[in-house]
Amino acid sequence: MDARYASLKGRPVFISGGASGIGEGLVRAFAEQGARVAFVDIAAAQGEELAAELGGDVFFAQCDVTDTVAYQAAIHALAEKTGPFRVLLNNAAHDERHQLETLTPEYFDGRVAVNFKHMFFAVQAVLPGMVAAGGGSVVNFGSTSWMMPSRHLSVYAALKAGVHGMSRALAKDHGKMGVRFNTLLPGWTMTKRQLDLWVTPESEKEIDANQLLPGRVMPVDIAAMALFLASEDSKMITGKEFIVDAGWI
Ligand SMILES: NC(=O)c1ccc[n+]([C@@H]2O[C@H](COP(=O)([O-])OP(=O)(O)OC[C@H]3O[C@@H](n4cnc5c(N)ncnc54)[C@H](O)[C@@H]3O)[C@@H](O)[C@H]2O)c1
Repeated sequence: MDARYASLKGRPVFISGGASGIGEGLVRAFAEQGARVAFVDIAAAQGEELAAELGGDVFFAQCDVTDTVAYQAAIHALAEKTGPFRVLLNNAAHDERHQLETLTPEYFDGRVAVNFKHMFFAVQAVLPGMVAAGGGSVVNFGSTSWMMPSRHLSVYAALKAGVHGMSRALAKDHGKMGVRFNTLLPGWTMTKRQLDLWVTPESEKEIDANQLLPGRVMPVDIAAMALFLASEDSKMITGKEFIVDAGWI
């Protein structure tokens, strides 16, 4: 990472879903900036391993973000270690494929819980401390999947489109309190999960045909935008969307 943000040094940062994929890239990037990083994930072993590797000011708690009571309790407990969060990265999600024909109300609610609902309740948990500490930056993770659009992801895609409305509405409600809300949309990013499950020789050709830039979008490329949106260098930016997709057309 080229950039160094003085405003992130020592800053308490909270990241959901930080044990693997883009979230792991975020944890590493913020730790590299000297931030005080707290993260949760359902994957205990991976989370503990990452926190142990990075050491010092990186704190992990195993937590299922769909359990709202436990999630808010975990956020408060981690804030005791880092100080009130000035940055919240609502990253956790699950892009399991589904079809309209076989949707059940229970499955639908489960998709909402893992892809959307927890973002609101994380904001609710961090907001009072953030405002009292002088304001902060919330980055909600969207997706370009509903713009491309992708197959068999209709509920996920609808929720990810909803993240734009969430960020804009919360930006309006809390701007005067010094809290910023933006949406970061990763394009197709080469996490281990994507490579294991969805990236095939055919889709490699699709990526090459659709991306304006050569190469592949990696978690570190998403983290670079997250660092900027979290830092004071973006202090006059709120209620907006930022796409990192190597110029997918
Ligand atoms: N990778 C991509 O191509 C891509 C594209 C567009 C948007 N995104 C978005 O970027 C963000 C990160 O995506 P990713 O590809 O790294 O996802 P991922 O599935 O690889 O990782 C998500 C992380 O969240 C954790 N998690 C899942 N369910 C959880 C739960 N109930 N409680 C706590 N933790 C849980 C997982 O264990 C994992 O560590 C998501 O918001 C996703 O929608 C990713």
